[in-house]
Amino acid sequence: METRQKFDGYAAKYDEWFMKNENLFTSELRLFKKVLGDIGGKKLLSVGCGSGLFESYIDCTNVEGIEPSEDMGRIAVKRGVNVIRYGLIEDVDLPEEHYDIIYFNGSSSYMEDLAPVYEKSLRALKAGGRLILLDVPKESAFGFMYLLGKSLDTYDHDYLKDAMPELPYPLALACSGVWHTTEEKIDVLRSLGVEKFTFYQTLVKNPLYTNEEPEEVSEGYKSGGYVAIIAEKQGDL
Ligand SMILES: C[S@@+](CC[C@H](N)C(=O)[O-])C[C@H]1O[C@@H](n2cnc3c(N)ncnc32)[C@H](O)[C@@H]1O
Repeated sequence: METRQKFDGYAAKYDEWFMKNENLFTSELRLFKKVLGDIGGKKLLSVGCGSGLFESYIDCTNVEGIEPSEDMGRIAVKRGVNVIRYGLIEDVDLPEEHYDIIYFNGSSSYMEDLAPVYEKSLRALKAGGRLILLDVPKESAFGFMYLLGKSLDTYDHDYLKDAMPELPYPLALACSGVWHTTEEKIDVLRSLGVEKFTFYQTLVKNPLYTNEEPEEVSEGYKSGGYVAIIAEKQGDL
């Protein structure tokens, strides 16, 4: 019997949520584009590429994807992502020193044990390559909101009255998340030998107001509801 993946059955809802929260999406897309930088001539791997929604706003000719949910991955293929495997990153063998950039856009938040997958990704990067992790931090207002929804098994609760955004992230996806703090991920990367980090963030407004207008990207990781860690692979990692 095939294993059901966390995002199976949610492809349409996931994309629809971003399309309805257009300004929030624009803020996240700005962060995504900023941290990828100039990708011309580079080899990229998107781990948990989902439906390829973000990739559809960049030239994804050289973007490979890994995605466990076939529902999501099939849409990514239509959007031009070269999905090399329908499966979990944990089960995939990656070639060594092959990619310039490997990124996890929101996918670390659905993984329990980060060290083995980050280690595998670092090995698959060329020297000087970048591992980029974008996520909702557990410690952010969004993280608290998802964890409260997960604990209550609903957003429709007196505790959350008047505090919720009009169209919150689908509850089932908040509940299946394994929300990590940014510093937890930094610690994992440090334990794997990474020393060179850069951080960018967006969605610094409280969730209730996030979709009012697109936000800018700023440096750092301590205020954002969406944060990117850029970890550079130095010579002998
Ligand atoms: C929040 S979605 C992000 C999708 C896409 N990257 C985007 O930004 O729109 C998280 C994605 O990670 C995938 N995922 C979850 N666990 C994974 C794993 N162990 N290995 C690879 N991908 C995984 C999910 O199937 C889902 O598509």
